Amino acid sequence: MREFVERLPKVELHLHIEGTLEPELMFELAKRNQVAIPFSSPEAVRQAYQFTNLQSFLDIYYQGANVLLHEQDFFDLTWHYLLRCQVDRVVHTEIFFDPQTHTQRGVAFDTVIRGINRALKQAEEQLGISSVLIMCFLRHLDEASAFATLQQALPYRGEIIGVGLDSSELGHPPEKFANVFAKALELGFKTVAHAGEEGPASNIHDAINLLGVTRVDHGVRCVDDAQLVQMLAQTQMPLTVCPLSNIKLKVFKQMSEHNIVELLNHGLCVTINSDDPAYFGGYMNDNFWSVVEAFPLTKAQIAQFTFNAIAASFIDADTKARLA
Ligand code: HPA
Ligand code: ZN
Repeated sequence: MREFVERLPKVELHLHIEGTLEPELMFELAKRNQVAIPFSSPEAVRQAYQFTNLQSFLDIYYQGANVLLHEQDFFDLTWHYLLRCQVDRVVHTEIFFDPQTHTQRGVAFDTVIRGINRALKQAEEQLGISSVLIMCFLRHLDEASAFATLQQALPYRGEIIGVGLDSSELGHPPEKFANVFAKALELGFKTVAHAGEEGPASNIHDAINLLGVTRVDHGVRCVDDAQLVQMLAQTQMPLTVCPLSNIKLKVFKQMSEHNIVELLNHGLCVTINSDDPAYFGGYMNDNFWSVVEAFPLTKAQIAQFTFNAIAASFIDADTKARLA
């Protein structure tokens, strides 16, 4: 079964590029850029990755991103992830990036996107891995900052397929960003949002109705609202579920308590993704394997996660038909 999982072609739909910063690269970049980090070794960094909830992770995750300063740093970060995609048989990936994490520190929007894009292009040419980019707004910041970020993205309209919403869900509901999402939709961006990770099922509802999302990131709290679950199944609204992330951030106590298989059996369009693999202990194969290990699944059920991801992806219709 492990071999089946490893060989299965995969499509990743929920991956924060800043969350692929491995401690070794963090150290290398800290040295290269002469940025002080409060750790003595990559092992010490790993030791510090003991999270109690989403916020405890975010605090350390934003601190880690401080070592990213130059275009080459963003290239290196992205390229390392793409090499890992090759190992895990990820043939297409839809990557989140958080421009505000960098622009707030004085790193130019252009620097971030140029470095990421150069790696994506090289992966398409050299590894045959296709990709799209989704720009996320940090929901703990205000609407004006999100609008300013949307403005900065306009010259890159052709390279950014959509906008998303991440960071602290509690206290920052979808409605806070209804205006900026309406503007993004008007400009032709697709929209997605993290909802129902730590926050209530009503956030999933609001992401759909107020932000016009075509996928919900996480969405696992939908089970608190039976009507919502039924609607998600009926509309085949995709959920980009991140099993290892949910365990690390204590959304579920252990994998056997995760609801991903329950949702799959209800006919929802659920997918498996790695979220922030450098922080949560695993890339795509590990995430698939963690679910397969915890639940008795047939090969057809495991493959369904990939079929769902193809259906839920922003790949053009012709390519979708070829992949399916
Ligand atoms: N949730 C919210 N914000 C995030 C996450 C997440 O899982 N990962 C990176 N930023
Ligand atoms: Zn996420």
